[in-house]
Amino acid sequence: MIDQCLIKHKMKEDKSWSFTDESHHNTSYLTHNYYTYPAKFIPQVASRLILENSNEGDIVVDPFMGSGTTIVEALLNKRFGIGCDINYVAFLVAKAKTTPINNKLLEEEILQLRSDLDYRMNGKYNYYLSKSYRFIPKNDKIDYWFKKHQKEKLAIIFARINEVQNSAIKNLFLVAFAQILKHCSIWLQSSVKPQRDFKKVNYEPLELFLSRVRNMSKRNEAFIQKLKPEIINSINEHRKVIRRDARKIPCEDNVATSIVTSPPYVTSYEYADLHQLPALWFNKMNDLSSFRKNFIGSVFKTEENEVNVHSKTADEIIENFKGKKKSKEIRKYYFEMYDCLAEMKRVLKKNGKACIVIGDTQYRNIDILNHLVFIEQLNSLKFEIENVTVRQVTSKMLPSFRDSRTGRFAKPTNTNIKLVHPKEYIIIAKKN
Ligand SMILES: C[S@@+](CC[C@H](N)C(=O)[O-])C[C@H]1O[C@@H](n2cnc3c(N)ncnc32)[C@H](O)[C@@H]1O
Repeated sequence: MIDQCLIKHKMKEDKSWSFTDESHHNTSYLTHNYYTYPAKFIPQVASRLILENSNEGDIVVDPFMGSGTTIVEALLNKRFGIGCDINYVAFLVAKAKTTPINNKLLEEEILQLRSDLDYRMNGKYNYYLSKSYRFIPKNDKIDYWFKKHQKEKLAIIFARINEVQNSAIKNLFLVAFAQILKHCSIWLQSSVKPQRDFKKVNYEPLELFLSRVRNMSKRNEAFIQKLKPEIINSINEHRKVIRRDARKIPCEDNVATSIVTSPPYVTSYEYADLHQLPALWFNKMNDLSSFRKNFIGSVFKTEENEVNVHSKTADEIIENFKGKKKSKEIRKYYFEMYDCLAEMKRVLKKNGKACIVIGDTQYRNIDILNHLVFIEQLNSLKFEIENVTVRQVTSKMLPSFRDSRTGRFAKPTNTNIKLVHPKEYIIIAKKN
């Protein structure tokens, strides 16, 4: 069992990790603002962890890479980056964010795209609509989220993107397309859960898409300026990002110097639900319920058996929810996370560091102390906890509140319970 006094001794709040003075502009520089990815961490945290726990030329891994924040920062800091995520949308975004594209080529492609789309939308609309119809996903959810005319305009754009030959440019356009979907649907914009807004003002898809692409092109150019030429010239040797489960990191044994990651949460929100619009268009979601089951921490994953979660704190939390479905859900989460930590150990070299950024949550007044559980699980895997820093969270895109009566997500005014405490823990654990 873990020595709680030792942990307390090693745990300290450090304001310099909060980056409270950073504006949104400063936390979304270069390619970091390509896509609004839920629960993405700010690049300042990833960058500092990389700089403090690895050297130039080292391998840095993120098994829950999400939108690829760690991998972008690894490249900017002259490291090799390896990342995976179970979410196809995360993979697309991370790939686009870490792929420098020749700006002349990109600008030419954008020019052609704009002129073609102007013609297709304003000149021969009906002709191109009929040709683009097959790009509308065959899924009931499409009509649930999109009004007919928006769906049709989006299909024309999507069909044109699919004609692009250069795979890096096509990927960048797909990310721009994914980014505008929420605005072009009736998804309630400010909501932390999928909810429809029938009075929503419609954005013009083409305008939104082209402005997005122009912005990304400028950021791509700035990204290139910051990268070393040898990294640009052999980008595929410097970073690997793939769609894969965190328990199968695409990396050999004992080679990584550090892991810089922020794992999924339990009792937080459904990543699958939040990514369903692009997943629909990209045909990565036949039905929502099987899509959800891929994600660790999903409400739709439960563990019936009394499996070992390797943490006394986890056992206590599970016991607090005894008799409720929530206990099975939390058990599954900690059970799966233990395997993820074991996989991190596999890829780390001796003395390599796992840097894990995690917040605690609360459900119906019961604390879910993720940081303590992870520390205990890491100890059980014979990691040495070097230190635990507490930081205030200023800009993490996480829903923060649940209704105290129903336990459902709610606007802060209707609730008195916080879902995610506005602080998180940075656990640094060394592989011995
Ligand atoms: C907190 S987010 C990471 C965000 C990331 N740090 C960023 O800056 O964008 C956690 C990620 O874990 C991913 N995830 C959930 N289950 C997974 C699994 N089984 N294997 C790999 N990734 C998974 C989710 O898709 C989500 O992207």
